[in-house]
Amino acid sequence: MDYVKKRMSGEATGHDWWHVYRVWQLAKYIASQEKGANQTLVEIAALLHDIADWKFNDGDLEAGPRAAREWLEAQNQAEKFILAVEDIARHVSYKGAGTSSEMSSLEGEIVQDADRLDALGAIGIARAFAYGGAAGRPLYDPTQQPQLHADFEAYKKNQSTTINHFYEKILLLKDRLHTDTAKRLAAHRHDFVEAYLQEFYDEWDGKK
Ligand code: ADP
Ligand code: NI
Repeated sequence: MDYVKKRMSGEATGHDWWHVYRVWQLAKYIASQEKGANQTLVEIAALLHDIADWKFNDGDLEAGPRAAREWLEAQNQAEKFILAVEDIARHVSYKGAGTSSEMSSLEGEIVQDADRLDALGAIGIARAFAYGGAAGRPLYDPTQQPQLHADFEAYKKNQSTTINHFYEKILLLKDRLHTDTAKRLAAHRHDFVEAYLQEFYDEWDGKK
């Protein structure tokens, strides 16, 4: 935990240690509600899931799994456990509306659900604008339509506004969750985001 904390504090794009902390807490809670999950694997994978993100490593999708492996090897973890964590780190990230979200283990599904819940609700909204600011994107431009990216390449190149990101990712998340526990938590967070957008448009057009 200290390793992850040191490596990730001070990140300005919503990928900081506190994101990892929240995902860890959510993943722990979901695992406690879902039968049959390996709690240790869930917790370690949650802590390592964003250790090196492709967005900040020249699009290198293996940077995260590699960093997770290096750390686990240094801790003398069993190869089987390392492979399981690597697999989760490799598949956890959202890669566009038209791409699938397959996870090969229940533990992976739980970590992915937890990661996605942190992109929803009040925190999800805050993270989106933090990311948009760090990337120099406008808040909103009514002349630009959201795009549902058919594949990961298109999603990576995307340069749209932060409000468009709500339609390109955030509002799609509730239907891409695996566990019943996460779906229950997501319903409320999703409704909150919808209500937020309504307020935003009303204020934009000077109606409120
Ligand atoms: P993941 O943890 O699945 O890898 P991302 O790295 O895609 O998630 O996103 C991290 C946070 O930044 C999320 O809250 C996400 O909604 C937000 N984000 C990602 N891309 C954008 C974007 N183009 N505009 C605004 N927010 C974004
Ligand atoms: Ni994450």
